Amino acid sequence: MQILQITDPHLYGSADGRLRGVQTDSSLRAVLDDAFMQVPDYAAILITGDLVQDDTSGYLRFRSIFGNLQKPVLCIPGNHDEPEAMRRSLNAAPFQICGAHHVGDWHFIMLDSYDAGHVGGRLSDNELERLDYALASSPANAMVCLHHHPVAMGSRWLDGIGLANADEFWRIIDSHTHVRAVAWGHVHQNYDGRRGNVQLFATPSTGAQFLPHSDRYAIDSLPPAYRRFDLRADGRIDTEVRWVQSLPMQQSASC
Ligand SMILES: [Fe+2]
Repeated sequence: MQILQITDPHLYGSADGRLRGVQTDSSLRAVLDDAFMQVPDYAAILITGDLVQDDTSGYLRFRSIFGNLQKPVLCIPGNHDEPEAMRRSLNAAPFQICGAHHVGDWHFIMLDSYDAGHVGGRLSDNELERLDYALASSPANAMVCLHHHPVAMGSRWLDGIGLANADEFWRIIDSHTHVRAVAWGHVHQNYDGRRGNVQLFATPSTGAQFLPHSDRYAIDSLPPAYRRFDLRADGRIDTEVRWVQSLPMQQSASC
């Protein structure tokens, strides 16, 4: 079963809106063109946060881009989102905000790590309870998705704005043996790791990327990207990040 992870599109109300030198609307569209051509039989799309860049009119743009898809579009908020406006704007199929979704032999649990007033994230007691309950209620292979990184990325500035209560998160994950993967956005870079039997994935943004292992905020020269997951019934995962090279980057010198 094929799943697409699309993350951190940072849309504005205007198609001309740029972030870190990249026009976020055309950049997202180029990524989706590639994804739908390469992976036409995908079962669902995971959107792991920062749908908009602090601009709630960006949700109308998001809806116009994804609203006609015939597959589930599973969304979670990031720190640049406004969760209430996001729920209001994306309140019908194909959109789902957080919650859980079963497809094939897999169970996707979409967590809300938005923490008002903070760039970093936190899972509320309710979200932690929901995670524990969702995992206990289904023996299917589980992929847990959130915006903020629950492990250190080896980048000082980014590691100050990850998931604040990661220990509580891992305590729950560790108590359920059928969690196969945790996937997130926020860090605008590729990451493919492992914690025990759980595979860990961060996916680059559909716009500009951050330079890995940098102590300070720095922009990478890598192009927009997305991730393809091929999820097997026995829990195995085949995955690749696809970089979309064809886009004119128009990187500006300043951020
Ligand atoms: Fe982002």
